[in-house]
Amino acid sequence: MKVKVSRRAHFNAAHRLYRPDWSFEKNDEIFGKCNNPNFHGHNYELIVSVYGEIDQETGFVIDVKILKDLIKSEIENAFDHKNLNVEVPEFKDLNPTAENIAVVIWNKLRPHIDSEKDLEVTLYETPRNFVTFSG
Ligand code: NI
Repeated sequence: MKVKVSRRAHFNAAHRLYRPDWSFEKNDEIFGKCNNPNFHGHNYELIVSVYGEIDQETGFVIDVKILKDLIKSEIENAFDHKNLNVEVPEFKDLNPTAENIAVVIWNKLRPHIDSEKDLEVTLYETPRNFVTFSG
């Protein structure tokens, strides 16, 4: 039997959405308030889900303690209270939109999850706006 196991996590981070090759006016038109040159913060809510067979010995798909520690070491320690554009190398040349952040998180976690299991990342940038990436 396959079951989806999820862990919710949280981080605060600052970002700015813009393209250096566009004028300020064009960036303003496309990215609005997220183009603020002085950056701004979001309270990101993250849900990481692992889908797979239940291990017959443990009864787990994945030990949630392991998942919790993985999210802490790979994501929270790298992103929490950081300026994503300035302090997180993955976003040096990549716009830190919710879409791109979700893909980066998925790529950071994927090598640590059993390859026979599916990984899904849902990222809330606001309580109403969220994105999902599953590879
Ligand atoms: Ni924003």
